[in-house]
Amino acid sequence: MALRVALLPGDGIGPEVIAEASRILKRVGDLYGHALTFSTHAIGGDAIDRHGQSLPDDTVRACLEADAVLLGAVGHPRFDDRLPAERPEAGLLALRQTLGGFANLRPALCHAPLADRTPFKADRVHGADILIVRELLGGIYFGEPRGYTSADSAYNTLTYSRAEVERVAHVAFAQARLRRHRVASVDKANVIETSRLWRTVVTEVARAYPDVVLEHVLIDTCAMRLATAPTSFDVILADNLFGDILSDQAASVAGSLGVLPSASIGGRVDLYEPVHGSAPDIAGRGLANPIGAIASAAMLLRLTARLPREAEAIERAIDQALASGARTRDLAGPGEPYLSTREMADVIELALVDLHDRQHTYHAV
Ligand code: IPM
Ligand code: MG
Repeated sequence: MALRVALLPGDGIGPEVIAEASRILKRVGDLYGHALTFSTHAIGGDAIDRHGQSLPDDTVRACLEADAVLLGAVGHPRFDDRLPAERPEAGLLALRQTLGGFANLRPALCHAPLADRTPFKADRVHGADILIVRELLGGIYFGEPRGYTSADSAYNTLTYSRAEVERVAHVAFAQARLRRHRVASVDKANVIETSRLWRTVVTEVARAYPDVVLEHVLIDTCAMRLATAPTSFDVILADNLFGDILSDQAASVAGSLGVLPSASIGGRVDLYEPVHGSAPDIAGRGLANPIGAIASAAMLLRLTARLPREAEAIERAIDQALASGARTRDLAGPGEPYLSTREMADVIELALVDLHDRQHTYHAV
């Protein structure tokens, strides 16, 4: 099949991880016979520097013409004194809105070889396999009105409509059907009205999925349970802000934020990005972990291109690389040797070729 991917490297370590993820995608295309084409566009602080805005019109146009967008990261401390609307992050938020993907899928998986890299006792985290489904286009991130009333007082608006909750809840239940048939819906229904609405609507949507077990979990309880019993979760459904927070917390079961991918689906064009940020402190030094971006590319193949075999090949290649002991700096223990961003991608690429060759031999026999 033919697939046009718009690459948005962005800031900090974004360009390094996107270079590797696009290389792996190209390789998959060559191995399995798909015509993947790429174009590269500016976003974030890089776009502010070069074009005077965090989301240039050309970037928007290119993304809307693509089949999928693969983004690195945005943000840099040199913009820290700016208002939210003038920061690099505003470009990402505007892009999410424009592309329309309201369901943000963030899997957090404990890869067995990394179980001793997490802050948990290995037996407690072993087997943890969580999918956070985060509502991405509503809630306090976008609620109006917002702003400062004076230098000493500021406000934001938290609002959700029934339709916004319904559509993301359907995605969570549908995903649960592909997994272990459990949804934990997160809210603060004991305090907040939007959470009461959230709970009511999710309960109603659940009726269409009698084979999926729904539980409602308060956000504070959920945060604690992620730390004490991470294996007790399958799909976690959360609003924009709670999902943002919980997805970083869930990263602790993976051993590093650097290995986590994400997909934003349900809109005009799907958007894929690693969960990690731009990490400007390590940018340009080959220290970044490319796995989050590479695993995002695998999600792209599964969800947008509907190529599950190719997606799985990438995921298995990542597992093999980790099982063979390949570590980037974030995954290495103190004093342990580690690979550069590129070297880690090289190991994954070799595993990918190896897997393909073995599949090929198997089919030929
Ligand atoms: C994320 C990030 C973004 C968010 C920032 C960079 C705007 O934290 O993707 O989780 O808050 O959504
Ligand atoms: Mg975040």
